[in-house]
Amino acid sequence: MFNELFQEKNVYRNLVGGRWIESKTGKLIDIYSPIDGSLVGRVPAMSKEEVNYVIKNANEAQKDWMNYPINKKAEILYRAAAILDERAEEMGKILTYETAKDRKSAVGEINRTADFIRFTADAAKSLEGDVLPGDSFPGTKRNKLSFVRRVPLGVVLAISPFNYPINLSASKIAPALMAGNSVVLKPPTQGSISSLFLAQVFKAAGVPDGVLNTVTGRGSEIGDYIVTHPEIHFINFTGSTDVGAHISEITSMKPLLLELGGKDAAIVLEDSDLELAADNIVSGAFSYSGQRCTAVKRILVVDQVADKLVELLTERIKKLKVGDPREEGTVIVPLINEKAADFIMELVEDALQKGAKRVYGEKREGNLIEPMLFDNVTLDMRIAWEEPFGPVLPVIRVNNIDEAIEIANKSEYGLQSSVFTKDIDKAFYIADRLEVGTVQINNKTERGPDHFPFLGVKSSGMGTQGIKYSIEAMSRPKAVVLNFNKDY
Ligand code: NAP
Ligand code: G3P
Repeated sequence: MFNELFQEKNVYRNLVGGRWIESKTGKLIDIYSPIDGSLVGRVPAMSKEEVNYVIKNANEAQKDWMNYPINKKAEILYRAAAILDERAEEMGKILTYETAKDRKSAVGEINRTADFIRFTADAAKSLEGDVLPGDSFPGTKRNKLSFVRRVPLGVVLAISPFNYPINLSASKIAPALMAGNSVVLKPPTQGSISSLFLAQVFKAAGVPDGVLNTVTGRGSEIGDYIVTHPEIHFINFTGSTDVGAHISEITSMKPLLLELGGKDAAIVLEDSDLELAADNIVSGAFSYSGQRCTAVKRILVVDQVADKLVELLTERIKKLKVGDPREEGTVIVPLINEKAADFIMELVEDALQKGAKRVYGEKREGNLIEPMLFDNVTLDMRIAWEEPFGPVLPVIRVNNIDEAIEIANKSEYGLQSSVFTKDIDKAFYIADRLEVGTVQINNKTERGPDHFPFLGVKSSGMGTQGIKYSIEAMSRPKAVVLNFNKDY
């Protein structure tokens, strides 16, 4: 099924207008595995002319797709989900090789994506419109009825990050398609190959020609051109705050949905179940080496239980398996590249110089960093505020709840926070005051289940994802008003 993707061994093509086409310019990007530096494959670096052709195809195809019956669109999505489930092991291997995601999480990402796609098809089938009587409004007679339904926006540009190239591409594509849009997918360069496999799954499931297209190429080279292209009608972006803010600046009035970086805090109170808190914090902070936007990225713990919490965390962190993501049970895997590891070590050096206590972890070899825990982190340290996107966890001790809330809210980010306490009144007191999209009570910060609304405030994003919310974001209300000559 995946043979069509290849121009020749290891050289990939892009899906454009229903055909897999090779690079016209011959310019290719080598994708190396973060595991061992071996060549995973080569993808085209598309030129502006090629991008124009892709977008033209997407616009033409959308005219028919918007009138395609919802139940037929849903059938295509059900088929795509079934293929993903069948191919989960095979695609999981590619994902692991390309992004160093451990095998279990890689296969899990693909199965989760299949569930997401099925749920999206169902959700779109039960979308309802409105019929509004005009005479509810003062001064209006019973001679007006407004029929309101949702219509597509046109061509959606989906831009996904390296850490979930399959899931965060599909969670844009599926709702966009069900809303009647066509899609241009610009995958992360490191993650392009996995994303091209995903595109083939949609094609094999029956997505009509031109309705889903791909553009590979470096965001730094082709990104500005695509996002400002006048025939792109909506941008659904997940990635770093820097790139998201840049896109927002240069796209003027184009509608955007931005899911960006985070600095999620786990707030641990004196009355919490500390074992539960430690279990959640360790899996929340270190899975996929902390390369998740929703990873726990700082702990704000009340002083009187801080020693005990640090002890419980250390016991657990010591047991995390470090190394090759292809081996069963590995949690701490090589980071996506050495540059990411360099940045993390800068934050670590800064914290150590300013007096943070290293509780666990010091080794770094190339792009592999062992899990690290730092205590007595203070607010003058960069690690208190910046997003490492790696396996490094700072503990900040606080005196009371209000101090925890104040520090949590001082962050430029506002994705999620956790609160660990047995006192529901305190939990709600804190939850009400935190400036974030979601507060988790007695659980790690995390996105799923995927039909929940998922959003960041402040520098963490703009707009809301989540199945029904994504469909709404990628459509708009259109009203047709029926005017009667007489009151009825
Ligand atoms: P990134 O560097 O911002 O890249 C994200 C995507 O944007 C990639 O496809 C990238 O392409 C593309 N891009 C880069 N420059 C562009 C430009 N000028 N115009 C258009 N697209 C451009 O992020 P990342 O390193 O892949 O992912 C890690 C970041 O994403 C972290 O900050 C993390 O918190 C955030 N994230 C947020 C969420 C969320 O839902 N809130 C989820 C996951 C990740 P190239 O790969 O070719 O550069
Ligand atoms: O970082 C990706 C984002 O979508 C989080 O998903 O399941 O890791 O919380 P999850």
